[in-house]
Amino acid sequence: MSVIAPQPGIMDIELYVGGSSTVKGVTEVVKLSSNENPLGTSDAVKAAHGKTGHNLHRYPSTDHAALRAAIAEVHGLDAERIICGQGSDEVLQFVTQAYAGVGDEIVYPEHGFSMYPILAKMVGATPIAVPERERTVDVDAMLAACTDKTKIVFIANPGNPTGTMLGGNDVARLADGLPEGCILVHDGAYTEYVQGFDGGASLVEALDNVVMTRTFSKIYGLGGLRVGWGYASKDIIGVLNRVRQPFNLSTVQLAVAEAAVRDQEWVTKCRAENARLRAWLAEALAEIGVPSDTSTTNFILARFADQAEAEACDDYLKAEGLIVRRVTGYGLPNCLRITVGDEPSCRRVAHTIGNFKVEYHGGSK
Ligand SMILES: Cc1ncc(COP(=O)(O)O)c(C=O)c1O
Repeated sequence: MSVIAPQPGIMDIELYVGGSSTVKGVTEVVKLSSNENPLGTSDAVKAAHGKTGHNLHRYPSTDHAALRAAIAEVHGLDAERIICGQGSDEVLQFVTQAYAGVGDEIVYPEHGFSMYPILAKMVGATPIAVPERERTVDVDAMLAACTDKTKIVFIANPGNPTGTMLGGNDVARLADGLPEGCILVHDGAYTEYVQGFDGGASLVEALDNVVMTRTFSKIYGLGGLRVGWGYASKDIIGVLNRVRQPFNLSTVQLAVAEAAVRDQEWVTKCRAENARLRAWLAEALAEIGVPSDTSTTNFILARFADQAEAEACDDYLKAEGLIVRRVTGYGLPNCLRITVGDEPSCRRVAHTIGNFKVEYHGGSK
């Protein structure tokens, strides 16, 4: 039988590996591997979800006007320049599909979100990973890596899995210095965890080559709903809408996401709780000899002496029903990414890592 060949790049894609949620042989687990909000969603959002069952025989809106209007109102943006997708992943895909192809290059930081190289290969473009400086995006190195073939530069700010953040001036310098016709995607999946941060919206207002992406999967506690959005110039949004399926979001997704964005009290509460527990966890880990960079997100990138220690710790945690994330695939083999869970989970993970350290080092920490 002859092999039917897919498009260039497709077979080079390494399948995305999500955070696991089960451990063989362990029934009670705590999942700290996917940066989900341990508080879930607010009562208002649950109520909105409960009301969505009535009209399922009707197709959803194709233009997402009500959701875009709500996002625009809450964030002070222009609704005409917003696009919504199946998670922000889909918005990242729209940009890639619309602006890059075979022979083009897509630049991203070496520890960047693993969807960036996947998306590049999906369209036959070449992914170019650029070294970071101490787990932080290096603007000069990113600019130096750009050529006339570079069509898209992706950064997550704050970054995943590093948790570090670039200041506004650095991001502006990156956007400003890109080659003609190259887009900067400012991926803001963790924006809401940073008090007062606009996620790159003002940069989109200032520069025509910047696309901001945002998600309902993190602080809004709606990872299972799959809704994200993007903000860019009218021209770019007009392009992206041409590669978007008309009914890409369901009636349920639209209604629930709208209720969620209107409930900013929940966001404020979750941000404060996350900041409190993140500070506690980082300090507790540091005290037992596990350092981390200052995180601006809902996770901590815990550093161990080497890959062997990180993997042994991961195994130890798993045996105790605690699931965190290995990040070897992100070029960080000596690290584990730990989502900031609720208070009992934070205490348990710190306590268990403490016990691991004692055992691993033969009784001394
Ligand atoms: C940096 C970053 N960008 C984008 C996403 C995609 O999020 P979603 O598709 O759920 O909106 C994630 C999810 O983990 C992420 O960490």
